[in-house]
Amino acid sequence: MTVTLVRGDLTGQHVDAVVNAANSSLLGGGGVDGAIHRAGGPDILAACRALRAGRYGKGLPTGQAVATTAGRLPARWVIHTVGPVWSASDDRSGLLASCYRASLEVAAELGARTVAFPAISTGVYRWPLEDGARIAVDTVRAQDAGRFDEVRFVLFDATAHAAFEAAVTGR
Ligand code: APR
Repeated sequence: MTVTLVRGDLTGQHVDAVVNAANSSLLGGGGVDGAIHRAGGPDILAACRALRAGRYGKGLPTGQAVATTAGRLPARWVIHTVGPVWSASDDRSGLLASCYRASLEVAAELGARTVAFPAISTGVYRWPLEDGARIAVDTVRAQDAGRFDEVRFVLFDATAHAAFEAAVTGR
């Protein structure tokens, strides 16, 4: 498994699965979530609504992951996961790590060999980038390397890319 860093837009990644930084409603939002629904089209929201009408009647809990079609995106699946909101008083690192772990579990079950992640929780949910990058890289590296050909972190801006670069190189 190679871990790669890319500066760019998650919605343009030609991979088997892209991971969405969703919220528990699964009904869309801003940031990555908004971009994925805008670019992927209505089939993604329809599939999310079906999940809410079924297994996830109360929404997707923080730290868990579930897959839907990727609609018009150049991917086969979107794996939706809900990151924890940053808290200075409550250590939610385990929940953030769980987003990466659970998303890769779902990807492996689907047979996805290439997976693209955003920097989960580091936007609207205010998780500090350096710490978010460390948790992301460490959690992905701890997974069974044989299950995937590539796990790609797609960073939207130079600051995020630098934070992940530092996490990958251990600087
Ligand atoms: N491609 C890649 N990365 C992106 C994109 C994009 N198109 N758009 C935003 N990002 C980056 C942000 O810069 C940030 O580093 O993704 C990271 C995660 O930011 P958010 O999308 O705000 O996600 P998060 O912090 O997990 O907050 C989730 O925001 O959009 C709502 O519905 C979503 O309520 C949920 C909350």
